[in-house]
This record gives sequence, C-alpha cells and structure tokens, in this order.
Amino acid sequence: MLSGTKLSCLAAPGKREEPGVVEDQPMLEMPATNKTITRQQTAGQHPGRFKPDDEFIRNNRLELDITYIVNESAQGTFVSRDELERFAPDVVENHRRLKRGEGDCRDGDVPMLGWQSLPDEITREHLDEIRSVADELAGKIDAFVSLGIGGSYLGLAATVKALTHTYYNQLSREQRGGRPEMYFLGQNADPDFFRDTLDLLEGKRIGINVISKSGTTTETAIAFRILRRLLEEREGDRATELIVVTTDKVRGALRTLTNRKGYRSFVVPDNIGGRFSVLSDVGLFGLAVAGIDIHEFVAGFRRMKMRTDGDDFWSNPAMVHAAVRHLAQQKGKKVEVVATNSAAIYEITCWMEQLFPESEGHNGHGMWVSPSMYSEKLHANGQMVQDGERNILETFLRLRESDNIVGIPGDPDNLDGLNYLSDAGRDMNFVNRLVIDGPAYAHFIGGTPNMTIDIPRRNAFNIGQLYYLLERSVALSGYLAGHNPFIQPGVEAYKKAMFALAGKPGSEPDGAGIKKSMNSMKRTVV
Ligand code: PA5
Repeated sequence: MLSGTKLSCLAAPGKREEPGVVEDQPMLEMPATNKTITRQQTAGQHPGRFKPDDEFIRNNRLELDITYIVNESAQGTFVSRDELERFAPDVVENHRRLKRGEGDCRDGDVPMLGWQSLPDEITREHLDEIRSVADELAGKIDAFVSLGIGGSYLGLAATVKALTHTYYNQLSREQRGGRPEMYFLGQNADPDFFRDTLDLLEGKRIGINVISKSGTTTETAIAFRILRRLLEEREGDRATELIVVTTDKVRGALRTLTNRKGYRSFVVPDNIGGRFSVLSDVGLFGLAVAGIDIHEFVAGFRRMKMRTDGDDFWSNPAMVHAAVRHLAQQKGKKVEVVATNSAAIYEITCWMEQLFPESEGHNGHGMWVSPSMYSEKLHANGQMVQDGERNILETFLRLRESDNIVGIPGDPDNLDGLNYLSDAGRDMNFVNRLVIDGPAYAHFIGGTPNMTIDIPRRNAFNIGQLYYLLERSVALSGYLAGHNPFIQPGVEAYKKAMFALAGKPGSEPDGAGIKKSMNSMKRTVV
C-alpha cells in the first residue's frame, strides 16, 4: 500500500542534488492517506448537509475554452467568433423552445424533457429515502451488483469510477468508507466476462439492483435471471430483501415481477430517456450504495441548470458548446475525439459516446465519438489527430487538479534529462495538465480544431455539473439538426434482427423477412 509509507521514489519535489551525493537526497513523505480514500471515507458522513458556499462555487466552476476553435491556424479560422455571433439567434431560439417544451421531443405521446427540470424538482426527502434504502442494503452485503445496459448502466458506472479509487474493489471495506464492492453486469452478453465476475462474487453476500426501463432488454434480463437464481439458492426467502428494482412506474415485465415478489423498487421516470437518466433513481441509488454524496451530485446539476437556463448565448456554455459542434458537423467533421487526462474521468467519455451518437445519429447526421485517455492514445491515434484526414473535432475533459500529489524525484545522473522538472519542483499533476495543453495547441496547428472543458477537481458537484451541461448541449444539437434527440429508433433494428435469429416468440413476421434477406445473399467467406 502507498498510504503511510515513506517512499523516496514517489517523493514530492526535490531540491537540486549534487552529482554522486545520493545519500543526501531528501526522503520526502508521501501524504499519510490517499486523498481519494479520504473522500470515500468522509463522503457519506453528513448526508443531506451539502451546501456549496460562494467560494466553493467559484473554485468549482467548469469552464469551456474555445480558443482553438475561434483563432486562426495554417488552415484559416475554423469557426470565427463572428460566425458564432451570426448563428447565436438560431441557437437561442431552439434553447427557448426546449425550455418551453416545444418541438420534436416526444417518445410516443410523452415529451422527453423530464431531465431538464429534474435538478429543481428532486426533493431532499426523496434523496434521503434513496440514501436510507442504499445504506440498509449496503450494510447487509459484501458486493453490490448493478445490472443494466446503455443509459441504465453507463452514467452510474462512469460516476462511480470518476469519484472513487482506481482499485476500489481491492481496498479494504474501511478504506471504501464502509461500502460494499461494486460490480456491473448485463452491459454485454459475453459469457466469459459474466463467469469471471461470478467467480469474484463467490462466497460474498451480494445485493442486486436491476435497472431497466422497458424491463425486457435481453442482456439485462439474462443477467437478472442468473443473479436472481443464485441469490434465491443461497438466501432462500431472504433474497427478496437483497434485490432492488429500478423500472417503469406501472408498466413492463420487471414491474409485474416486482409487484409479485415484493421487491423494493425505484422508478425510471416516463419522461426521461435512458441516456438522460443518471440524475434519476437510475443513477442515484447505485451512487448512494457506493457512498457517493448524492446531495452534492444534485447540487452540481442545479448549479449548471442555473448557468445554462439563461438566454444570453455567450454566458451559456451549453449553447456555445452545441453551436461549435453543430458548425463542426456542417463543416465536415465526422469524428469527435473526446479525450481526458484522468483515468477516473475516462469512463465519462464513454458515457458521452452514448449520449451524443445515440441522440445525434439520425437521418445521416452526427459525429462518431471516440473516447480517449491521454497520454495513452497520444501514442496511438494521436498521430491521426495530428496529421491524418482533417475530419476530426477534438474535445478535452481536462482535470485541473488530481486528488493526490506525486512528486518527481531528482536524479544525480539525470540520464533521462528530467531534472528540469524536479529542479523546478514540478509534480505529476503539472505534467498531466500538459498532456492536454500540449496536444491542444499542436493539434490545432495541425488542423484539428479543439475545445476544452476544464474540470477543477474530481468531486460529485463537478461531475453533476458536467453531465447537465452535456445533456443540455446534446438536446440542443438535435434541435439544431432538425431531429428528435430523445429517441433511438436505430437501436431497435439490431434488437429485431437478434430476436429473429434467436426465434423469440412474436418475432416471426420480422424474422421471416430477415432470414429471407440473409439467405438471399451470396455468402463470401475467406
Ligand atoms: O438511452 C437509452 O434510452 C438506451 O440506451 C437505454 O437506456 C438502453 O437501451 C437500456 O434500456 P432499458 O432501460 O429499457 O433496459
């Protein structure tokens, strides 16, 4: 373990060393505790008391930097400020329509805009109730397994990752703040992945939260069937109190089962689609189980709602973000590389990989989102971003301050030439900011316009702000492109083909057509 250990190799900034006087190098203390662990241990101590003061809000302001969009590179100016000014009235008009609930926003009869007002509507009592069920379940189990896919998985998984220790499950319970281990299943149909996860659950007391709005999503339903059976075999009648269901309020297979079995349950609101649901019970329950302060998370959403409710284009980061991305698409950008310098935040780029393409990929529109962790990908498709086809827009989620300080030790031999960093007292956080700042400039000069969302630090408030900003931006994006961003008819096509091939009862009419079409093709296999 690193905590409490004296490690000169991981020391904080060192003073200049005389060559050869190795024994005089300072043995600098690592801080006694990993600050991510401290956050885990203290997050749930004052439930419901989170109240950001002015200083906290100032210090936790997310900023959108479009310098490398509006300035001139060798390729000219990608999108000038004047162009944005000219486009602004159109953006503002669509922003107002969204706020008024007008436009193409329905799924069936339901306007899918519940997420927009949710931060203001969610009550303290409801959060307390979630917290209390989560605490009670967490107290009874060693491992929590969340079952879901798409919007019923990604937001929760990304937020847990963003706010906890990299090796959360391997920590002691005390280091996790008394919370259980966290696992996710149902997000794919891979038997090896499934079996490997079950191996880790062996001998542990488990609790399940199955999340599915429809209640019939195949991958989630299979996972639930297996886990439910496992739990019933192990626990008998007690299994009922270890299962929590999050589904539609009245409809669907899961609601029927819940009523029949007497499971505790939460609701996926009718007017909130999966990928916009992380602030609803879908995300909140699992976050509370992991000990994340859900009141702080909600406060982040509220704060960004205030900032993005306004009608002034230049004061509203969601409008500017949506405008830049829309113009980028009009100017031929096909790929959006979304890169971060934080391993913890990386999974949020995967959440964005769903939020944007599922909402924008309609009628031949949309950009392919490519989640990336820098520096890692700088040594891979970074070459493409710098010098490949100029069809890329790049967006950075730049974490400004990491939780922990890791110093760069001096070295009397300086063979790697790094003493310029250690001599100046630079630590890894300094370098880690530059893995965004350096590429941002270089890629801009190379013809890849880019923008940066600067995240001051990893806390529930900032992750909440980020989600709301991006949800608002993508909603606007659909409106600007002229289609409904809240439905995903394309996702149904794969389900139909899969059901037909599996012989699902009821799929026969589609199945016959699909099989006929498949059989009519000349198979070409090498
Ligand atoms: O964004 C969406 O609506 C989808 O990604 C859904 O969340 C996903 O398909 C899972 O659906 P369900 O919750 O019905 O199982």
